Formats: sequence, structure tokens, C-alpha cells
Amino acid sequence: MKTFYVTTPIYYANSLPHLGHLYTMIVCDTIARSKRQRGIDTYFLTGTDEHGINIERAAEKAGRTPQQQADYVVDYFKQMTREFGLDTAHGGYDIFMRTTAPFHAEGVSELWRRIAKAKTPKGNDAIYKGHYEGWFCAPCAEYKTEDEYQIKAINDEGVPVCLIHDTPLDRVSEESYFFRLSDYGDALLDLNETRPDFVRPESRRNEVMSFVRGGLQDLSVSRLKTSVSWGVPVPDDPAHTMYVWFDALTNYITAIGFGNEERERAAGFEKYWPALHMVGKDILRFHAVYWPSFLMAAGIELPRAIVAHGMWVDPNGRKMSKTLGNTVELDVLHKHFSIDAIRYFVLREMVFGQDGRFGYEGLIDRSNSDLASGLGNLSSRTLTMIARYCDSRIPSGQIPEEKLLLAKRSSVDTDETTVAGFIETARDQFLLHFDNLAFSRALEAAWSVVARVDKMITDAKPWDLAKDENQRHTLGAVLYRAAETLRWLSVLLYPVMPEASRAIAKQLGMDQPPDKIDPAGLKWGELREGTPIGDVQPVFPRLDKSQIMSEINGIRVVEPEAVPAPPAPSEGVPNFIEIDDFAKVDLRVGTVLSAERVPKADKLLLLKIDLNEEQPRQVLAGIAQYYEPEKLVGRKVVVVANLKPRKLRGYESQGMVVAASYGEEGRPVIATFTEDVPNGARLK
Ligand code: MSP
Repeated sequence: MKTFYVTTPIYYANSLPHLGHLYTMIVCDTIARSKRQRGIDTYFLTGTDEHGINIERAAEKAGRTPQQQADYVVDYFKQMTREFGLDTAHGGYDIFMRTTAPFHAEGVSELWRRIAKAKTPKGNDAIYKGHYEGWFCAPCAEYKTEDEYQIKAINDEGVPVCLIHDTPLDRVSEESYFFRLSDYGDALLDLNETRPDFVRPESRRNEVMSFVRGGLQDLSVSRLKTSVSWGVPVPDDPAHTMYVWFDALTNYITAIGFGNEERERAAGFEKYWPALHMVGKDILRFHAVYWPSFLMAAGIELPRAIVAHGMWVDPNGRKMSKTLGNTVELDVLHKHFSIDAIRYFVLREMVFGQDGRFGYEGLIDRSNSDLASGLGNLSSRTLTMIARYCDSRIPSGQIPEEKLLLAKRSSVDTDETTVAGFIETARDQFLLHFDNLAFSRALEAAWSVVARVDKMITDAKPWDLAKDENQRHTLGAVLYRAAETLRWLSVLLYPVMPEASRAIAKQLGMDQPPDKIDPAGLKWGELREGTPIGDVQPVFPRLDKSQIMSEINGIRVVEPEAVPAPPAPSEGVPNFIEIDDFAKVDLRVGTVLSAERVPKADKLLLLKIDLNEEQPRQVLAGIAQYYEPEKLVGRKVVVVANLKPRKLRGYESQGMVVAASYGEEGRPVIATFTEDVPNGARLK
């Protein structure tokens, strides 16, 4: 039997996961489901990376031991995978791997021993003891070369700071074991040339190759236990702790039994290795350069492929990260959206390999257009009509000879193979794109089917056909084609939307659930005439955008939309206000002294504004998606100075910045002056 092994990275146990982590899991879960559906014995790994200085520090900060810290994060991860239907019970991962598992330590030690005995392709010892002198970034768990940090002035001192994390690096000067990576350059180039699919997509392969061509330095693979104690000790030299990436990468083989018989029996290294490693592009080098070199040294077969996806960035194009406070929180996602809508959105929206912008509005819009109005509507209109016109049974798809002319007259294609052929072609395209991991294009192919069959229904007008007894067969044929299409879609889309696909299959009365049907083997016409359909229920309810957005933002409506629209003028009576009404509003000129983003609130900026009062005013403005905070500093603005203060996201807002609002999105444009005006001046 064919087997397949797919892995996510194992995530650091120092902080809680966000959309980025969920994304890689969804991608791997989708791949695993698709392989299983096609009859391939599949093993799917996810888990946590629990050792190293960064976890030690996170634990210390939280007042926990490193193990408690890891357990705490793992609990959250497991709960998250349950809630998002990614755990074993929901047909998701096979193992939640933890690097603190005792069998893992056994396996890593075995790998180390093998490499320690090995010679490089140039005949040198693969591991040797030396002295490391350099800079280390704990959050990256990586040594940094000169072009990977910048010197920043901190307390009058020039301190090297990580370009990614903007945090000071640790100085390391100590005895260390080295892996002789510099001897593996040619082997790695050979590998990428002979297996052009080893690193995917091609742009990433090119990146890896040029990195290797630039020359490889030997890699420090241990730290003194006195510096880093939370990790696996180096075999036969417990004064050293293994480098966390050596430890972490090895999880992919220890999880399935490398170096441990019990795991071998439970999963099977022989059976499942080599794996397809799905990773974010941020950790490509570790997987495409270090990992294959370790494996070559140990004489272990190389992975099937390293596939690097792009990063989710916020609407301003910045990578999601905890430090920037722009992450999409999983609790919020889970509260407002169905799992399948999230899965569909992330797979449809991100062109695989490239970065993707995430915005809740986009998720709501796609969910409403593609799911509620698209697939969901096709499903409910088809099934409702079968219930109403066909006594809740799948009708026959055949139109007898003598009725063909009549059918033609009502714009129904009498040749069933036209629609069947279209759908078969779309299925083939879907599978081809899917196998190339081009999920977005695969879904486009599936949605071309939705559009096509929707149009078939609209053209045929079954509601009119139903009024004419002579058109009974035509009506049946149209509804049969729509129902059979839905059957195909439920099978094709199962890996992407397991719940919705099952729901559609159940409503169609299919005797086999979609996960048990191989999409490559689908044959047109296998939906049996006379099958009773199930209860018709909407699969994707419409989402109320303004309500969800205001709930997500934690406020009823964020400024500048907060101003209620003026009452509509009653007929013939212009909508005037008295001058006194206007005078109630105290509008003042101010200068923005500082502006910063509010953590966990995509839209809000926290402004300090000088209104020529004793203290600057603190004002929250819902403009973060349109204005970079730095650009606002020094700007003249108009503030509603007598607006009742209120608390948003834990901050008191003492007024409101006046802005025009235009377009469907209500894009804000801040009101300002072209002439010089002193702060505090009143607008009358
Ligand atoms: N522990 C290492 C991996 C060791 S694997 C042997 C690590 N952990 S991590 O917690 O930082 O996870 C990084 C991975 O999380 C990325 O490679 C990617 O899979 C996922 N993502 C984290 N943020 C992301 C985005 N903003 N967008 C997409 N995926 C992201 O690195």
C-alpha cells in the first residue's frame, strides 16, 4: 500500500499560537485528508518545540519551570486543534509531537552518535569540538552573521540587534561542538539539481541554491550546559546541550520510530519516511540546508520535499507577530467564523508560496459571496426544489425521446454529457492543482462548476417547468444534474471543508460519506434515482458584516463611523438644525504629539493630541488601516473636545478626531488646515 507522511513545523512552546500557526496546520490537514481520501495510508505530524534558551526565558518571565511552560502552551495548542477540528478525533493529525517526550531524547541521541561517527563527503569528521565566538538570537534560535544584525544605540552603547525581532543578541564565547556544514555545499547543490522538486516552490529553491553557493560555514550544534540547560545532553558529554534546531528537526524521524522500537511499532519509520515538510518561508534554511546535511551525514534517506509557504501579513503588509500586536487571534476567529469558512478562506486567498493579506472584512466578504451565495445557495436551492417538486427524492436524469424537443425549447441542453464533461474536466484540473499544492487555483476550478450549474438552473427556470406537467422529465433532468454536481463537489471539497462536505452529502442522501470516495474515481450518474434526500438546511449562513466587525473590534462601531447618520429628511421638510445644536459641539484644533497602534485592535490608533490644555488629550481613532502612526505625528487635526469620554480596549478616549468618510468601506480622511492655526482654536 502507498504511504505518505506530512509534517508541520513543531511550534515554539514559548507563546500561544495565532493564525500563522493555524495556517500551516490547515494546509497539512487538507493534504492529509486528500491523500487518505485517495486511499493512501497517511501519517500527519504536528507538535511543539519545547527546548532551548527562549523557552527557559519565557518560563522564567511567567514564573514557571520550563516544563510547566511547555505543558501550559501544549494544553492551549491541543485545545485549539480540538476546536478547529484538527486533532485525531476529528480525522486530523496522527501525532502531536513534543520534543520533551523521552523517546525523542533517545532518537536524537542516536542521530548524534551516528553523525559523530560519520565522515563528510570530503573525508573529514562530521562533528568536531571547537570554540564558538559570535552572536545568537534567542527568539530565532539562530547564530547571526554580520549581515543579519544591526548595531543599535542602547543606553549609549552600540548593541547588535536582530533584524527580525529587533531585540538584542546574546554574546556567545564558549566551547562548542560543530557540524562540518562547509563540507556539504556540493552535495546540497547536487541534490537540488537532480531533484528540482526537493525545495518548492521554485523561487525558494533558487534562494536555497544561492545561499549554498555563497559558501556554508560550519554550524555550532551545542551550548555549554552552564549557558543552556533546558535541552537534550550531548551523548557522552553531558556538559553540552544540543543546539535546539538539531533537537527540533530530528523530531520528524523520532516521532515515527527512529531510535525507539515502541514508536516504530506505533507508527513506523520504515513505513512512512520520507516526509513532505511543510514550513513557512521563515524557517526554510533550517529545513533545506541543515536538515538534509544532518541526514546525509547519518546516512538516512532525505525528505520527500521541503515546501515553503508565504506569510500572513496584516492589511498594512506587515508580517503578523506578537510584538507588533497585529496577530489574528484564534479565539476571535473561532468565536465568529465556522471552521470550514476559515479553511476555505485561507486556502483560497493565499496564492500558495506568496504572502497573503489577512483582513476580517475579506473573510466575511468571501464567506458571503463564495460560500453563502455560491456553494451554499446552489445546495439549498437544488435540494429545496427536489423537496418541493420531486417529493424529496432524487429524480431521474433522463429525458425520454419524445420530450427532447420540448426540453430544448426551454433552454435545457438535452445532451447530459455536456455538463458531465465540463465537470469531469474541472475535477481533473482541481486534482492537478491540488497535487501541485495550488489550492487557490484548485478552488477556482471547483467554483467554475458552481457558477456553471447555477447558470444552468437560472436558464432552465425549474420553477416554470414545474408548472407544466409535460416538462416533468425536463425538470427532473435539470435537478438531477444539479444534485449530481453537488455530489461531486462534496467529494472534491471534502479535504478543504470536511464538515460542510459531509453536511451536503447527508442532505443529498448519499450512502457513502465523501471522505470515503476517491475523487479521481468519480463517475457521472452514480447518484441513484429515487434516493430520499435528507433535511434541507443551509450549509453556510450569511454573516452580518457590520455586527461581526463591531464585535471583533470590541466596540459597537469604531470611529469615524461612530457618528450616527443624520435622520432622513421627511418628505418635503428639509433637515435643518438650529445654530444652538451646532454650538453644542466643541470642535478644537490640535497637534498630534504621538501615535501608536493598539495591541490586538487592527483598526485603532492611540493618539496624544495637544489642544493647548494642561495635559495632552488621549484619543482613540479607528484609522489604523489607513494611516501609518509615524506619519501622523505633527499633524494638525480637528478634535471633538466635549465628547463624553469612553473606554475602548482598556484605554480612555477623551474626544474624537474629525474625518471625512467615503466609499463602501468608509475610508477615513482626516480633516486638517492649509494655514497655520494655533492649538486649542475653536471651530465655529
Ligand atoms: N520551532 C521552530 C520550528 C521547528 S521545526 C523543526 C519554529 N517555531 S514557530 O513557532 O516560530 O513557528 C514558525 C512557523 O509557524 C512558520 O514556519 C509557519 O509555519 C508558521 N507561522 C508563524 N507565523 C506565520 C505567519 N505570519 N504566516 C504564516 N505562517 C506563519 O520556527
